[in-house]
Amino acid sequence: MRKVSYSASADIALVKYWGKKDEKLRLPENGSVAMSLDGLRTETTVEFREELEEDEVEIEGVKGERARGRVVKQLERIRKKAGREVYAKVRSRNNFPASTGLSSSSSGFAALTLAASEALGLEFGEKEASVLARKASGSACRCVVGGFVEWREGESDESSYAKQIYPASYWDLRDVVVVVEKEKKKTSSSEGHRRADSSLFYEVRQKRIDEKIERVKKAIKEKRFTSLGKLVEEEVLEFQSILLTSRPSELFLRAGSLQVMRAVRGLRKKGVEAYFTMNTGHNVHVLCLPEQEERVAKEMRGLSLVEKVIQTKVGEGPRKLDKHLF
Ligand code: PMV
Repeated sequence: MRKVSYSASADIALVKYWGKKDEKLRLPENGSVAMSLDGLRTETTVEFREELEEDEVEIEGVKGERARGRVVKQLERIRKKAGREVYAKVRSRNNFPASTGLSSSSSGFAALTLAASEALGLEFGEKEASVLARKASGSACRCVVGGFVEWREGESDESSYAKQIYPASYWDLRDVVVVVEKEKKKTSSSEGHRRADSSLFYEVRQKRIDEKIERVKKAIKEKRFTSLGKLVEEEVLEFQSILLTSRPSELFLRAGSLQVMRAVRGLRKKGVEAYFTMNTGHNVHVLCLPEQEERVAKEMRGLSLVEKVIQTKVGEGPRKLDKHLF
C-alpha cells in the first residue's frame, strides 16, 4: 500500500474556539478565525500494512505518547470511511515544542488526516477533509486549509468546517512566537473546553462573539493592523478571564508569559506596534508588521525568562511531501 507524507502548519486563533456544543462530534459553541503559521509545522508519514497487528504510532520519537489514543481513534474513522481493516505505521514530528500552547494538535491531526486518508485511497475535497480533521481536534479543521481561515460553528457534522477567507499572500503579517518554557501544560484543551461554561463570563462572551468575528474579519479585509491588534489582544485577555474563572480554575500564565505581555505593551509605548495573543498554555505569540519584526524579536530575545524565539509569517495550506519519515 502507498506510503504518504504531509506537512501541515499550526495556526494561531485570532478569535478563539472555546467550548463545545457536541463533545463527540467536536461541534464548537462558536465560530473562530485564525491564521496559519508557516514556521510551526508537523510532518507525518502514514503507511497501512497488512502484516501489522495493531497501529504503530511514534510521535517525536516516542511510542505510546499520550496523543496515541486520539491518533488511533482518527485512524479508526478513516478505516471506516474507506471500508478497510488494516493497521498503520505512523511517524510524526514537529519543528516546534509540542503541548506548550503552540497548537501541535491542530497541525498534527491535519497532517495525519490528509496522509492517512490518501494512504487508504480516499479521495475527497477540502471541506470533507476539514470535517474529518475536526473530529480528532477541533482546531485541526482549520489547519487543512491555510492562510487566513474561518471556522463557522455549524449545526451538524457536515456543516461545521473551515474555509479560507484570504490566502497567506493577501497580507504579510508576522508572528514572533516566544517560548518561555518548554515544559508541557498540565490541563489539555479538551478538558478546558468542558469547563468553559462554568465561568460566569462565558455567557456574556458568547452573546458578543459573532460581532467580534465580524470585526476581526473586517480588520483583515481592510488590512488595518491597529484595529486587528487591539481586537486580538482584547480577545486573549477575555479568553484568559474565562480560564481563570472556570471551575476548577486554570492558570496557564507563567512568569515568562507575563514578562512578554508587559514587554509588548512597553514596545507600543515606544511606538512599535505589536500585540500579544496565546492559546492554552504559556507561550506567547506577538503579532506585528514586517517592518517591526526584527525590533520585536530582538526585544523578546533580551528578556530574562525567554528560552526561544521563532519568527514566522502567515502560512499556506498543507503540503504533500516526497520525503518520508521511515
Ligand atoms: O482544538 P483544541 O481542542 O486544541 O482547542 C483549541 C483551543 C484554542 O487554541 C485555545 C483556541 C483555538 O481556536 O485554537
